[in-house]
This record gives sequence, C-alpha cells and structure tokens, in this order.
Amino acid sequence: MRRELCWTLLILVVGARDGITAEAISREDFPPEFVFGSGSSAYQVEGAAFDDGRTPSVWDTFAHSGRVLDKSNGDIACDQYHKYKEDVKLMVDTGLEAYRFSISWPRLIPNGRGLVNPKGLQYYNSLINELLDNGIQPHVTLFHYDLPQALEDEYQGWLSPKIVKDFTAYADVCFKEFGDRVSHWTTLNEPNVLTLGAYDIGFFPPGRCSSPFGFNCTEGNSTVEPYIAAHNILLAHASVARLYKKKYLAKQKGIIGINIFAYFLVPFTNTIEDTRATQRANDFYIGWFMDPLMFGDYPEIVKKNAGSRIPSFTPSQSRQVQGSADFFGLNHYTTFYVKDDPDSLNNNPRDFRGDMAIKLTAKADRVSKAEESPNVVYEAKLSSGTDAIPPGMQGVLQYLKQTYDNPPIYIHENGQMAFHNASLNDMSRVKYLEDYIQSLLQAVRNGSDVRGYFSWSFLDAFELFDGYQSSFGLYYVDFNSPDLKRYPKLSAHWFMDPLMFGDYPETVKKNVGSRIPSFTQANPDKCKAQLTSLDRTITPHYMSRMILIVSTTIQEIFGEIWPSS
Ligand SMILES: *[C@@H]1O[C@H](CO)[C@@H](O)[C@H](O)[C@H]1NC(C)=O
Ligand SMILES: *[C@@H]1O[C@H](CO)[C@@H](O)[C@H](O)[C@H]1NC(C)=O
Ligand SMILES: *[C@@H]1O[C@H](CO)[C@@H](O)[C@H](O)[C@H]1NC(C)=O
Ligand SMILES: *[C@@H]1O[C@H](CO)[C@@H](O)[C@H](O)[C@H]1NC(C)=O
Repeated sequence: MRRELCWTLLILVVGARDGITAEAISREDFPPEFVFGSGSSAYQVEGAAFDDGRTPSVWDTFAHSGRVLDKSNGDIACDQYHKYKEDVKLMVDTGLEAYRFSISWPRLIPNGRGLVNPKGLQYYNSLINELLDNGIQPHVTLFHYDLPQALEDEYQGWLSPKIVKDFTAYADVCFKEFGDRVSHWTTLNEPNVLTLGAYDIGFFPPGRCSSPFGFNCTEGNSTVEPYIAAHNILLAHASVARLYKKKYLAKQKGIIGINIFAYFLVPFTNTIEDTRATQRANDFYIGWFMDPLMFGDYPEIVKKNAGSRIPSFTPSQSRQVQGSADFFGLNHYTTFYVKDDPDSLNNNPRDFRGDMAIKLTAKADRVSKAEESPNVVYEAKLSSGTDAIPPGMQGVLQYLKQTYDNPPIYIHENGQMAFHNASLNDMSRVKYLEDYIQSLLQAVRNGSDVRGYFSWSFLDAFELFDGYQSSFGLYYVDFNSPDLKRYPKLSAHWFMDPLMFGDYPETVKKNVGSRIPSFTQANPDKCKAQLTSLDRTITPHYMSRMILIVSTTIQEIFGEIWPSS
C-alpha cells in the first residue's frame, strides 16, 4: 500500500501517465521476447592467460606493470576458460535466459592478425554450444577492452586507421565460425569510456596521456588522441557492421550493435546555464558516438569546441557510419548533476573534459566532505554500497528515446558494487536490482524499445579499476580457494525467481526470514530520498570506473588513491 503510494508520488514527479503499482516485478510484465541475463567479459573472467596459444592483450601488459589498484591481474581470474561448464550450470540454476560475454581477440587470433588459433575456436564453440544446449542465448561482444598487444606495438591500436582492417578480419572469423549459433553481436563495449580512460587520463591500457592531464604518462596526447581513437572506432564498427550485412545477414539473420556507457544527467540548478550544460554533457558523452551512428556526424557543439582536434568524416565515411547499429547496448549505473563550467574553454591545452565545459558533481556537501578526506569517503562509500538512483534508468532511456527516435536498446550492464567479501547476504544489491528493473519497466511501459536486461556481473570478477577488491557478482567467487569455488549470493536467488514467479524462492524466504523486504511493502524512507531531488553520493562505481570522465577537480580530490604510473 505504502509502496504504491510512494510509486504514485514518484510517477507524479517524473511525469508518467499510467499509474502502475509496484507489486512484485514479474516476468510477465515484460514482453515475452524480452531477455533477462547477466554478463562478463573475457579478460575479467576467463583466466588461462598463457594457455593454448593465447597471446597478451594490452590489459595483460598493463596489469603486469602493476597499474591496477591492488596490483593484481587477470592471469587466472575466475578461470572460466576451464570452468565454463560449471558456470553454465550455475546460469541454469539462476534461471538466466541469456549470457553476455566477450571474445578474447588475442585468444582467437594470436597477435591480432593472421592465423586463427584452433584452441581458441574450440573454446568459444564449446561455450556457445553449452549455453545453447541449456537454453541460454549467447550475446557476444567482439571487443571489451582487450586489444592484442601485438597491434598496440605495431601501430598503436585504435590510434591508427589500420585497426579498421584488422578488426574487420577478426570479426569475419567470429561471424563465420560462430554466427550460425550467435544472433546478437555487439562490436565494442563502452568506447566512450575506453577512449577517455586509455588516451585522456591514461589509467586504462595503453595508459596514454599528456601533462597536465591524467597520471604522469610517459607517452600520449590527451588533447587529440581520444578524438582520434573514437573516430577509428566508429569506422571500425561501421566496417564490421557492413561486412555482417553483406556477407552474413541473409543466412544468419542476426543483429549487430554497439554499446555505450551513459549516466542519467540532471542540471545541478534550474538555471539556463546548467540546463544547457547538461545537454552539452549528453552531446559529449553520448552524442559523440550516437550522433554519427544515427545522424552521420558529431554533434555541432562537439565539433565547435574540439575544433581542429577532432577528425571529420568524409561524405562516404559518414554514410557508412550512419545507420550502422541495429541496436544500442547501454551500460547504466547511476545519475550525476551537471554544472556549467565556461572557464574551462579558456584552458590551453584543452582535453575532452575542457571542451565539454562542465563539471560533473555529486551533491555539494558530499563533494566538500570528499575534499577533506578522500580515502575515508572512498572506504565508506564502498562498504555502504548503496548509491542507487533508480529513476535514472527511466530518465536515460527517455533521453535516448526522445533524442534518437526510440532506437532498440539492450541494457547490457547495471549492477551494484561492494567490497569483495565472503558475505552472501547482498540485500542491498537485491534492492538495487529490483529498483532499477522497476524503473526500466516504467520506461518500457512508456514506450522505450528496450529488448533485454543484463545485470553486471554474473560472477565476482577481476574488475578493471581495482582488481579483486570490489565486486558486482550474483555469485561470490572464493579467489583464495584452489578451485575458485562459486557460491550464490542472495541476489542470485533473487535475480530470476521474483521475475519469473513473483516472489523469492521458499528456501530464501526461510533462510533470510524477516530481513527480506517484502515486495508489496513500501520503503518510505528510500522513496523519499529518491523523490527529493535525485540526491546522490559519490558512488563506488563512479570511483572505480568513471573517474576518467569527470572534472579535474574530482580528479585532484581522489588523486592520492589512484595508481601512479
Ligand atoms: C513518456 O513518454 C512521453 C513521450 O515520449 C514523454 O513525453 C514523457 O515525458 C515520458 N514520461 C516519462 C516519465 O519519462
Ligand atoms: C598534441 O597534438 C596537438 C595537435 O597535433 C599539438 O598541437 C600538441 O603540441 C600536442 N601535444 C603534445 C603534448 O604532444
Ligand atoms: C560484503 O559483501 C556483501 C555482498 O556483496 C555486501 O552487501 C556487503 O556490503 C559487503 N560488506 C562489506 C563490509 O563491505
Ligand atoms: C605526478 O608526478 C608529480 C611529480 O613527480 C607528483 O607530484 C604527482 O603526485 C604525480 N601525479 C599522479 C597523479 O601520479
């Protein structure tokens, strides 16, 4: 009852028209062809880094040079390479309808180009077959950060237009070998994070940046390289999509899209400056990739502020890029405030963030607390772990629907970070997932063309920012046990059961008892918190992943906990 009231209020606030009540989320609330799944990426779960002919990716090199926060690497990770059968069994237990994973390019084509590694083929064939034998759809990403080191060494990877040909040849092998059984292809995972992380701030491999930006990199040019890499990525994506449509579509009948990372952005104040700044931030973070894909060119404001530092599309490139994504994968975790920062346009030199001329901010009081004692805030936020702003899911989907004429979308990542620990009671993660899926449902009911939802992540994994310190998994992995034993958390039990059957499984209700919030009970405090202004705190996820695309102020605040190069 109270929950109903709360949602009614929320609906008033966000302006939805149909008065849905927040009863248990049920599978039937979503269209039958909608898929629910969970995800991973090759370097983060496979392990077997030196086995069966795999060569290093830029992530191996980077991690082995000690640049991950906890100095760890993905040599072994979850060892999914050897344990995929067990993992697929766990997916069946969890009731997953789909599994999102990525192919390791240097495992399939060692050195990035040329001969195909039969052991690599065998592994992905086995994984795909195992999934299909168990009724689980494979949703495959071709590139999730792990570029073959050989191509980085040869021509600097994404900085060179040569990557287009090699990436297309790699994709060709994937379509040819796996496309009879895989019908959902994503070319790249969050290129908007990759380009800034790798070439502006330099804390993702290959770790390039230039002073005064980023972390004392030895090489790079933060003012131009993110734009150059993004341009090559768009051309590479378009080339792969064209290949698929020309050579495979008629027979394989799949779809091919790309993924982006997006916050929901809210003006910090109602001033016209902050409102415009918010649009500008969306143009930079989202439009940078989506505008060329939908309209054939970068947003005007991006071209204007980046000037000669951003490459232009030739007419034929523009035609190739436009319309080359059948769908967009969306990685969405949280919401931010945007403040106008016109002074940054006077900076010289200037990087992407200066060109954007905004500051991303949490609520002001949190920022000042963070200034006093960065590590304390980091620790506190990591352990509390509840930074959900679920209405942001509906917000960002509404933005995409309006701006890009309602493109098909898969939620590829959404989930909650916590310290990696042996507790299996991740009630706050259950609440996070429940609230975000509720918000997603509102968006679907309001007409957003969303076709699937994947939680991040299925297993606790090697996380790209801090290694094994934090985790998002529905399953706890005991990285200290010799066989890397997996244990289902409460969220694993929850994830499909209420969606399928409208309630937690009996065993969970019995074991967790009254600590489980009932699906029909309100949580008035939480609702209130959401209603009053989309307040938020500095999120652990933001710490772990998106530090890279925030203001230099925040960069300085947290400077001391970052790895120095
Ligand atoms: C629902 O969709 C309509 C049409 O796009 C839009 O005007 C309205 O703001 C949307 N409601 C919410 C809550 O996003
Ligand atoms: C970065 O590239 C720009 C444009 O080519 C150039 O003007 C600038 O000097 C370069 N900066 C560094 C640090 O190399
Ligand atoms: C331990 O992990 C659980 C489950 O992921 C999480 O909910 C909890 O907050 C974590 N505890 C600490 C102290 O970090
Ligand atoms: C970069 O190097 C300078 C000078 O050695 C040092 O003061 C600063 O803390 C370093 N910055 C980072 C982010 O590592």
